[in-house]
Amino acid sequence: MNKLLMILTCMCNDYSLSNLGVRCSYVEANVQEDNGSSAIDVVADIKTERVVVLGGSGFVGSAICKAAVSKGIEVISLSRSGRPSYSGSWVEQVTWLPGDVFYANWDEVLPGATAVVSTIGGFGNEEQMQRINGEANVLAVTAAKDYGIPKFILISVHDYNLPSFLLSSGYFAGKRKAESEVLSKYPRTGVVLRPGFIYGKRKVDGFEIPLDLIGEPLERLLNATGNFTKPLSSLPASDLLLAPPVSVDDVAFAVINAVIDDDVFGVFTIDQIKEAAAKVKVQNQ
Ligand SMILES: NC(=O)c1ccc[n+]([C@@H]2O[C@H](COP(=O)([O-])OP(=O)(O)OC[C@H]3O[C@@H](n4cnc5c(N)ncnc54)[C@H](OP(=O)(O)O)[C@@H]3O)[C@@H](O)[C@H]2O)c1
Repeated sequence: MNKLLMILTCMCNDYSLSNLGVRCSYVEANVQEDNGSSAIDVVADIKTERVVVLGGSGFVGSAICKAAVSKGIEVISLSRSGRPSYSGSWVEQVTWLPGDVFYANWDEVLPGATAVVSTIGGFGNEEQMQRINGEANVLAVTAAKDYGIPKFILISVHDYNLPSFLLSSGYFAGKRKAESEVLSKYPRTGVVLRPGFIYGKRKVDGFEIPLDLIGEPLERLLNATGNFTKPLSSLPASDLLLAPPVSVDDVAFAVINAVIDDDVFGVFTIDQIKEAAAKVKVQNQ
């Protein structure tokens, strides 16, 4: 009996089980060496995740949807174009909702979600960049909070060590505004990922652009030379050359790590994104 209790205690302490929300309870007092006793009470309460990916049809968003499906997470994507033309069995397992984040009917999107992930962002003129990187995300964070969604994960961007006058441009200013909203409305569960250049296979108008052909060797080279180039990182804008690219799968798995681990919150640098992704990938093996 004591042996069995020890095994159950170890199981309860196991990281992956606690992550899944497996709860064990047993009566500690009055445990007797009596096999007929019903002192052990094991309650398996498996937490199911349901993630809403804003922009799930995009380059980063689709990798997040795919990674989430691979982990058995229920996924809903919202984007103006709705269902994308990607192939693969994971595509069938995502609920693709068409809709603009500025006019979304959140009643159809958010109820029951355990996390919202926003990949919304992009380029344009100053006003457009403020709107899509900043206002769209502020609106989404507000909606998620109003609907009581416990977690919000934002794909932001590395600052490349740029001088402040460049960081005040619509793209970066919008991103920082969105970050502040996430961190203030979700101080204990909000996650902001700040990747630099993201590589992978990007689909544009039906064509696949293999960004990994450049990104992967560049990432290896910059990682290998990191110790030598570190002193240069104090130079303004040096990270435009020195910030290592990150694979789209690493960004996606760092998101998954944030979704399944309730202890994860705050701002994640490029290196931290890779570390977080590695945790989930290890569990996958
Ligand atoms: N790619 C990189 O190297 C890189 C690097 C650092 C940071 N980031 C950030 O990562 C995020 C994702 O980048 P990405 O390369 O995956 O961009 P992307 O391929 O353009 O994806 C953006 C997604 O957002 C959706 N979207 C845009 N406006 C919307 C709106 N008003 N309502 C609903 N959905 C909307 C798009 O779909 P529809 O057009 O169909 O609506 C698309 O699914 C962005 O915030 C970007 O700033 C990217």
